Amino acid sequence: MNFYSIRGGIPLCGEIEIAGAKNAALPILAASIMSDDAVTIENVPDVSDIRAIISAIESIGAVVEKTDRHTFRINGSQIQDIPVEDEAVRQIRGSYYLIGALLGKYNHAEVTLPKGCNIGLRPIDQHVKGFRALGAEIRIEHGMIVADAKELAGSHIYLDVVSVGATINIMMAASRAKGMTIIENAAKEPHVVDLANFLNSMGAQIKGAGTDVIRIRGVNSFHGTEYSIIPDQIEAGTYMFAAAATRGDVTIHNVIPKHLESLTAKLQEIGCQIDESDDAVRVAATRRLSNTHIKTLPYPGFPTDMQPQISVVLGLSQGTSIVTESIFESRFKYVDELIRMGAQIKVEGNTAIVDGVDKYSGANIVAPDLRAGAALVIAALAAEGNSEVHDIRYIERGYEDFPGKLHQLGADIVVLEEADSSTDKNRTQIHLVS
Ligand code: EPZ
Repeated sequence: MNFYSIRGGIPLCGEIEIAGAKNAALPILAASIMSDDAVTIENVPDVSDIRAIISAIESIGAVVEKTDRHTFRINGSQIQDIPVEDEAVRQIRGSYYLIGALLGKYNHAEVTLPKGCNIGLRPIDQHVKGFRALGAEIRIEHGMIVADAKELAGSHIYLDVVSVGATINIMMAASRAKGMTIIENAAKEPHVVDLANFLNSMGAQIKGAGTDVIRIRGVNSFHGTEYSIIPDQIEAGTYMFAAAATRGDVTIHNVIPKHLESLTAKLQEIGCQIDESDDAVRVAATRRLSNTHIKTLPYPGFPTDMQPQISVVLGLSQGTSIVTESIFESRFKYVDELIRMGAQIKVEGNTAIVDGVDKYSGANIVAPDLRAGAALVIAALAAEGNSEVHDIRYIERGYEDFPGKLHQLGADIVVLEEADSSTDKNRTQIHLVS
């Protein structure tokens, strides 16, 4: 088991490049099997969740060729074993995108129920409602979701909650259904739009992605394509908030500034200097930041995936901030760890009351999930003294070269291997990031 050892208190300064968006790449890789021609996908981030979905599509017979670190060529013409039981796939939430992809292509899907980050209940009733509206029968058998249809037919679907996953899954299945499907109250996240653009590049007819009404006219088949995934706005946001927390000056390249608007607006409000160009954003914090109120909302609101990171920043800001989490009910699990570093935060239901402190102090902490793990690393970078961040496997699910990129910005962070956490002598430095 590896962990990060961090000496904090160094302002992050410099320039970095953002990878492709994990949450766009997961459905796009799943959807790539819907064509019987070869599909080339570029700008795929090199993170463990992606390796899991690749392993899943290979396990059912898709031919996958990795042509460079970020490019995959996928051919779904050889798929035979529809059940997706691959162990890796159970670990990732995005595996449920294979239901929409397989159901759309073969009118049949069998996929192991996913786990994913433990941030709340995460029901899939809206996915099921959508598949049923398209004419599929859905049942749970032996830990698998089984979806079956004689024929998928277009339908009018109103989502009861705005769900990224349900919007994406229904869009995939409906793109091969007979006739027109309308999804109302659809999610508008950039990765929803990216998947629609990808499906359209294979021949789908999808209009309105990025608004709350998506219209999908089903087609009989897809052809091959070459497609490049959008930059990861959550990875970019994480470095923006790391710059703010450490009072640094960081320029982040390969971003779409429009996707970061809710973050740049908040950073400006609390006192950061923001400079934007076509595909880069610079965040500089020269003085102590001030308090604000945050409520997480579906896009274009403030993203739940950035809630832990901004809370770490607000924990060091002047005054009292209120952070309300309205998407997932268990997304304050990092607060206990942050309190051990000196933060003054009280959680009441879905709200955190954050009284800013002058500084955090280094501590040994454990990452409870992907984004909270990244947030705790930011806290450790800002803290006085040394910290260890354990359970980094969560962070590796979604951040490419996290310690490497931080090191590039001047952070003192190393990855260590720990055979037995009770003794120092078993620790070996396995990778001095550079
Ligand atoms: C996606 O999860 C992302 N995951 C999450 O990112 C992200 O936090 C979330 O969207 C919100 O932006 C992936 O893209 C793989 P939802 P998803 O369906 O699709 C409720 C990360 O850190 N709901 O939009 O699972 C649900 O409980 C991860 O990268 C239902 O009630 O999220 C939640 O309250 C963590 N019924 C809300 O909707 C359903 O059928 C939004 O969930 C589906 C969802």
